[in-house]
Amino acid sequence: MSSPSHSAPLLDSLGRPLGQLRISVTDRCNLRCHYCMPEEEYHWLPREDLLSYEEIAELAATFAAVGVDKVRLTGGEPLLRRDLERLVGLLAANERLRDTALTTNGILLAESAERLRGAGLGRVTVSLDTLRPDRFLALTRQDMHDRVLEGIRAAAGAGFRKLKIDTVVIRGTNEDEILDILEFGREIGAEVRFIEYMDVGGATMWAPGKVVSRAEMLAGIERRYGAVEALAAEDAAPAERFALADGTTFGIIASVTAPFCRTCDRSRLTADGMWYLCLYAQRGTDLRGPLRGGASREEMVRLLSEVWGGRTDRGAEVRLEARSRGPLVSIESLRRDPHLEMHTRGG
Ligand code: GTP
Ligand code: 5AD
Ligand code: SF4
Repeated sequence: MSSPSHSAPLLDSLGRPLGQLRISVTDRCNLRCHYCMPEEEYHWLPREDLLSYEEIAELAATFAAVGVDKVRLTGGEPLLRRDLERLVGLLAANERLRDTALTTNGILLAESAERLRGAGLGRVTVSLDTLRPDRFLALTRQDMHDRVLEGIRAAAGAGFRKLKIDTVVIRGTNEDEILDILEFGREIGAEVRFIEYMDVGGATMWAPGKVVSRAEMLAGIERRYGAVEALAAEDAAPAERFALADGTTFGIIASVTAPFCRTCDRSRLTADGMWYLCLYAQRGTDLRGPLRGGASREEMVRLLSEVWGGRTDRGAEVRLEARSRGPLVSIESLRRDPHLEMHTRGG
């Protein structure tokens, strides 16, 4: 099938191009991080609704035809999906996708890092919120801290273009570990990004007082290391990057206190083929229906163009403007529509 050629970038109603696509390959997870999945029970997406790897690759090619050049595989925990390297291979074979990345909790990374690298995965981000096994257990409800550290070490040795560590900083949970995690990243050769705790999806225990702001994080880091240098922005990535005097770089993702919606070029595809234009969006577009119904590449391109052209989302900014703020979505609503969960939408 010939793909329509992509000329002028596709812009949304605020002039933002369609850039990065985040593809969730499963909503399931082998951890229960309390900032993401605090409840006892979940309604999982029905298996027959999940897109096959071929369907994901076809949709990714359609997105690439309208300008997407970066894809990131997420979950739930993406490594729970069998033979993920087969999908990586399909995506890496698409010349328009210049960058294929993975966000993982690291539990299954030690045994898969080499295979993923071999299949063409370029970059890996591992979530690591604590260096203390007892805290890890309390935070995730699983006693698997060792496996995460092993996974990070394996990734560091597998030759990815870039390895990052994502740390969600929560007051009263791990804000005293910022410096230790920064040191750990430096030793292992990973760039650490500290993330403000967001009131998204399953963060039903979120409260404003638990957010450690970018300003606070920077102040703590500067107290220890002296002044840090702000680095130029990398694409439309959400992290602001900084360097310590010795050249160690790190990032801060200030989605709560300084949202980056104005330059946000990302959208999300769930494992069952719903397309969301914002992390905070309450409604998405079903792409699985038309795909399985036999829509042509051209028809799919037209659908993507129309929907992106009408995009007005700036969810994090709208949240910042709200006068009083609590969790975004109630537990009842999450139970009614699992698509509202962060673990379905892909962090
Ligand atoms: P690259 O830009 O490819 O480096 O990836 P990334 O920085 O998006 O990677 P990652 O998946 O590690 O995302 C890091 C964190 O940034 C997420 O866990 C979220 O907390 C936050 N984040 C990611 N995407 C969005 C988004 O679209 N909006 C907002 N407000 N926050 C986001
Ligand atoms: N706030 C900020 N980041 C979150 N993530 C999940 N829930 C939240 C939240 N409430 C992100 C973390 C994690 C990734 C999978 O999703 O970065 O590492
Ligand atoms: Fe983009 Fe929505 Fe996140 Fe803002 S809140 S940065 S518009 S995804």
